Amino acid sequence: MAGIYVFTLLLFCSRSFTFTATSSAYDVFQYIDPLIGSANGGNVFAGASLPYGMAKAVADTDSDSNQGGFALDGSNITGFSCMHDSGTGGLPSLGNFALFPWKGCEDDDINGCMYSKRNRKTGYVNSSVNASPGYFSLTMNSNIDVDMTVAQHTSLFRFRFPTTGHNVTGQQSSPLILLDLTDLSDSRQDNATVTVDSSSGRMTGSGRFLPSFGSGSYSIYFCADFESSSRLRDSGIYVDSRASSDVKNLKISRSINGYPLPGGAFVRFYPPPDNTILARIGISFVNSAQACANAESEIPTFNFESTYSTAINIWKEKLSPIRVSREGVNSSLLTILYSGVYRTMISPQDYTGENPLWASAEPYFDSFYCIWDLFRSQLPFLTLVDPFSVTKMIRSLIDTQQHLGWLPECRMSLCKGYTQGGSNADNVLADAFVKGLYEGIDWEVGYAAVQKDAEVEPYDWSNEGRGGLLSWKMLKYIPVQDFDYWGFGTMTRSISRTLEYSYNDFAISQIARGLNKIGDAEKYEISSGYWQNLFRKDQASYINGTNTGFAGFFQPRYLNQTWGYQDPITCSPLDTSGRDCSLQNDGAETFESSIWEYQFFVPHDMATLITLMGGPSEFVRRLDYLHDHGLVDIGNEPSFLTVFQYHYAARPAKSAQRAHYYIPSYFQSTPSGLPGNDDSGAMGSFVAMSMMGLFPNAGQNVYLITPPFFASVSITSPISNRTATVRVENFDPSYRDLYIQSATLDGKLYTKNWVSHDFFVQGQELILVLGQNESQWGTNKADLPPSVSTKGDVSSLVTERSSLGMSDIETRVRKSSEERAGVS
Ligand SMILES: *[C@@H]1O[C@H](CO)[C@@H](O)[C@H](O)[C@H]1NC(C)=O
Ligand SMILES: *[C@@H]1O[C@H](CO)[C@@H](O)[C@H](O)[C@H]1NC(C)=O
Ligand SMILES: *[C@@H]1O[C@H](CO)[C@@H](O)[C@H](O)[C@H]1NC(C)=O
Ligand SMILES: *[C@@H]1O[C@H](CO)[C@@H](O)[C@H](O)[C@H]1NC(C)=O
Ligand SMILES: *[C@@H]1O[C@H](CO)[C@@H](O)[C@H](O)[C@H]1NC(C)=O
Ligand SMILES: *[C@@H]1O[C@H](CO)[C@@H](O)[C@H](O)[C@H]1NC(C)=O
Ligand SMILES: *[C@@H]1O[C@H](CO)[C@@H](O)[C@H](O)[C@H]1NC(C)=O
Ligand SMILES: *[C@@H]1O[C@H](CO)[C@@H](O)[C@H](O)[C@H]1NC(C)=O
Ligand SMILES: *[C@@H]1O[C@H](CO)[C@@H](O)[C@H](O)[C@H]1NC(C)=O
Repeated sequence: MAGIYVFTLLLFCSRSFTFTATSSAYDVFQYIDPLIGSANGGNVFAGASLPYGMAKAVADTDSDSNQGGFALDGSNITGFSCMHDSGTGGLPSLGNFALFPWKGCEDDDINGCMYSKRNRKTGYVNSSVNASPGYFSLTMNSNIDVDMTVAQHTSLFRFRFPTTGHNVTGQQSSPLILLDLTDLSDSRQDNATVTVDSSSGRMTGSGRFLPSFGSGSYSIYFCADFESSSRLRDSGIYVDSRASSDVKNLKISRSINGYPLPGGAFVRFYPPPDNTILARIGISFVNSAQACANAESEIPTFNFESTYSTAINIWKEKLSPIRVSREGVNSSLLTILYSGVYRTMISPQDYTGENPLWASAEPYFDSFYCIWDLFRSQLPFLTLVDPFSVTKMIRSLIDTQQHLGWLPECRMSLCKGYTQGGSNADNVLADAFVKGLYEGIDWEVGYAAVQKDAEVEPYDWSNEGRGGLLSWKMLKYIPVQDFDYWGFGTMTRSISRTLEYSYNDFAISQIARGLNKIGDAEKYEISSGYWQNLFRKDQASYINGTNTGFAGFFQPRYLNQTWGYQDPITCSPLDTSGRDCSLQNDGAETFESSIWEYQFFVPHDMATLITLMGGPSEFVRRLDYLHDHGLVDIGNEPSFLTVFQYHYAARPAKSAQRAHYYIPSYFQSTPSGLPGNDDSGAMGSFVAMSMMGLFPNAGQNVYLITPPFFASVSITSPISNRTATVRVENFDPSYRDLYIQSATLDGKLYTKNWVSHDFFVQGQELILVLGQNESQWGTNKADLPPSVSTKGDVSSLVTERSSLGMSDIETRVRKSSEERAGVS
């Protein structure tokens, strides 16, 4: 608490002048460190990838925190593989078909090399680890330098062997590279196969594996080639600890005694002249022939430099829409920002052309892991800097619904992932809809998909949709100990599900309104208010026997409408009860967070929430209490919006204080600099949008204004090619002058404390004049962001269609329907 209020008391005169000449002409790669979040449980993918790339090459380790493959924590390397997810919290994902190099086998005998993960694992030299967009390298303790780069479905590994590798007769040893038919979490199912071609050394095959946080299984295929095939000495297969060059095909069972039997293939080379062997691996979810075709077309000549420079160019282009002024700021803040921006484009992953589950001309994206994490700021951020990719993601979500029956909530490795709360793809579609994404999106079909979430209960709602719809419709809340025979799922989280379902219904109502389905819009606006039915007006919250002094908290409620009880601090960082807070069958009534934090999750009706809590000043006191008493878990997504919700109580200055409190204290430019799992790029997007000074209320056409961490921020809309700019007058790099005194938008006085998406599409200029003290700016009732209860006409929340050069939404829906009809 003290740390925050100290800002206002210091009166240094350290103002600098704003000037913008050449401020954006610099190379952002110097500020991108993919290793941020590679230690301390960030679980990021630190390796080589293209934006949304399927091929993700990195060194895999045996760390407990190897969800993304590599961890910078002194763990050992088990191999080099090329499929990964990033920042996830479940089991390790993917990591299939790892390669592993030996500079030679003992006694020059192939059985003198070690094949199993547990025997072959080798340390790496800490200081040798080097990562940048499209590139990863390190030196193994065996003195083998390994670096790697990627194309969309293909990885290229370069193994450089030490020249000191000699055998007893003084001749250089024969390097061996093995390929292991396993994955990071040893989930291989029956009958993986590999075939090695004795003349070229090409290895092809496949395996079936389990998703890391979901149901079902997936099959995946590979095609490995070695540039040095003219130096091939021998090749073959191995099982457990023994290898043979006489055998070229292997089909291997699942496991023995719960341990997946090591098995795979190897190639051995005469010492290459430059001690270098390049290995290229193509991957496909369709078949091995497609894996080979992907590899041959994407990296035809094993040219490392040109593959890498293509990757660099693709990244530079993707990162070009956002630039900030460097004037006066510590470069570590630039690293926090741009590394966060970079991580928003690792996942979801573009598997278009690689989906074996159904035939479709639509794009296919995977690794929505999970939408509960992504909807809040990652996808909204990408809507600003890469709307064309978000459009494809939306089309993919809708197409998935068309073929599998439901919009995904969590999805990885072609499988359905577990639902954490509501049907939050509804929020994603609404966010895209109100921000005017339409190209190729059939919004009528999209609307039917979100409406199904609200109306039809899936038989198994642990993977999709919503549970408890019978109670939802009859009682207008999700009861604790619900009676639900329509469908089945984990019967917990009744409070957080009620809150999320309410917001999901608001999301649906906005699309309905925009499509002129007025009856539906009104219906879902009403059900978006059901959260109020769990607000127990007389509930108090005690911490260690001391009353926190607030009346009214959400509480569980039974089918008979009497109240249950959950301590409002349960599942908060202060909770020492040991209560399960995730998807366990004895989990709490709030998912991964407390009633204290969830009580602010009414993003669409803050006005009513503030009234229920006793008015703006009581609301602010309560939000302060949340932040000042250790009840916030800034390392998890439900906290994100709480940083900025002061805006709704006419205290935008406090949102600015909070943003600066959490960044950089909890978000740093170091490997351990993330406070929780990155969750794809959710944390990355939180820092990016907080530092930009425009934080989204996701699912609505609202960005809350706080002073950016930089003298100026520019974002060029790839849709309109216009550049929106936030410029700070009296920029103070010490962030003591943190308070907006006045603002202009395109030269006109601007007092609202939020802007709509038009700001970005039209390329407007927002100038913020800062000062030492909190001011009256943005505090009048008319300045506050909209709430559904105070603004009957929600259609005004939809981006002005004319700003995109279209007359109305119907035209667009008709157009995209026609386009789709033409395609199919
Ligand atoms: C490498 O770094 C890790 C994590 O900081 C540390 O545990 C390990 O001891 C380091 N190893 C060496 C050889 O310095
Ligand atoms: C790495 O492997 C070496 C050799 O097996 C072992 O001594 C070391 O403890 C391992 N390191 C970790 C962090 O497991
Ligand atoms: C040493 O290596 C060479 C070339 O790799 C091989 O031909 C020779 O048999 C090896 N000798 C011994 C004793 O391992
Ligand atoms: C795996 O192969 C064995 C032996 O050919 C066969 O009996 C079994 O049915 C196969 N399992 C699967 C899942 O295909
Ligand atoms: C920049 O920030 C880093 C990390 O907080 C800090 O260690 C460093 O001293 C700062 N540099 C300057 C010049 O203030
Ligand atoms: C509650 O009391 C315990 C035991 O005295 C103490 O360790 C803990 O820090 C207290 N928690 C808070 C939030 O005051
Ligand atoms: C309501 O249901 C709860 C849970 O089953 C039960 O404990 C309580 O006694 C019931 N109250 C009434 C008034 O029926
Ligand atoms: C924006 O610029 C790109 C590349 O220069 C161009 O292809 C596109 O047509 C432009 N779009 C608009 C709306 O001007
Ligand atoms: C800011 O507030 C402090 C404390 O209330 C006051 O002393 C100071 O004069 C104010 N500064 C300005 C520029 O108004």
